[in-house]
Amino acid sequence: MDFSPGVLILCSLLCSVAGQAPVVSVEPRTATVRQGESASFRCQVARGAQPIQLEWKRANNQALPANAKTGPDGSVLTVANARPENQGQYRCVAANSAGRSTVAAALNVKHAPKVHLTPAGPLRVRMGSPVSVECRATGRPRPTLTWKRQGSTLQLVTKETNDVNTIQWPVVHPEDSGVYICQAENNEGVTEVKVEVIVEGQPGAPVASVGAAEMTVVEGRTVTMECQASGSPLPVITWSKLRAPLPWKHTVVGGVLTLTSVGRQDSGQYICNATNIHGYSEAYTQMEVESPPYATCLPDQVRLQPGDALRLQCLAHGTHPIHFEWSRGGRVSLPPGAETTRDGKLLIAHVKLSDSGTYKCVASNQIGNSEALAKVIIKA
Ligand SMILES: *[C@@H]1O[C@H](CO)[C@@H](O)[C@H](O)[C@H]1NC(C)=O
Repeated sequence: MDFSPGVLILCSLLCSVAGQAPVVSVEPRTATVRQGESASFRCQVARGAQPIQLEWKRANNQALPANAKTGPDGSVLTVANARPENQGQYRCVAANSAGRSTVAAALNVKHAPKVHLTPAGPLRVRMGSPVSVECRATGRPRPTLTWKRQGSTLQLVTKETNDVNTIQWPVVHPEDSGVYICQAENNEGVTEVKVEVIVEGQPGAPVASVGAAEMTVVEGRTVTMECQASGSPLPVITWSKLRAPLPWKHTVVGGVLTLTSVGRQDSGQYICNATNIHGYSEAYTQMEVESPPYATCLPDQVRLQPGDALRLQCLAHGTHPIHFEWSRGGRVSLPPGAETTRDGKLLIAHVKLSDSGTYKCVASNQIGNSEALAKVIIKA
């Protein structure tokens, strides 16, 4: 074949006509219907080389739902008797010999809320323990969620995040027993789901609670932990530490445990025990004691000859993470060829006479820092 300039021009003209990929649009781009109603979308071809194949798909490439049908030429998509799960994006795909293009349409299906409780109940809980029930709802428009107690019109104070509304008791009491109702409401309707909470335990039995379930304190501080107990007769409060005796420097006055000048070894779980003739109740506080680093150099003095390898290790104890930084006394930077590692090593593969000096390691964490020195003497 002869590729003269004339043939090339002819081809580029023909190709631009014969090789035009489809251009499509969709009407409407968004349809909002009630549950049970129908919706239709029309895919229209603006241009492109014939023949053009039209096909409708779900945006996630899944098959069309059973209640969705397309017309004989593939241009019209009809979703009959729309269900909530039909909501989402649909795509019209147009293809011809030159290529393919797609256009998206969105279907919104308005529906009354559906509500789901976790756990579903009935809930049998021991008095004094924490309880929470999550209420989740789907619906279009997005429903508002409220909790009520059966027989009361008061809306309860709950924790709401995104589409979840949680009713919770840090410490549940016998009088909290009852039926609770989560109500979800939108323009399409109101849905209610009930859960029964049964608080088990003898009247008068102790219920203990602590001020904080977790605490983090800095070494050397004085710490107080408060324990409150209800019950009749009034329970007697004792404090203990899990798998260890209480720190030596402690006092207990009226349910309050005070630890003076805490050290790292005082970290652990502290238990408040409230006891009366009906039984006992325990509440826990987890305490972590944080401390600044204490750094040392290994070795702290070294004699080498030129060409030897220098290896220094900075060691530190204290609360993790600990960050190490090496420097050389009186200099801006470490000698060229010096390498440091995240775990506190300093390496120079072949030392020179000029590498002599005092090297400093600074170990730091969120509480503070500490430095350690190593003397390096290099002699021929
Ligand atoms: C709390 O007190 C009860 C009754 O005296 C006892 O059986 C239980 O072991 C105590 N718990 C702790 C953690 O000391």
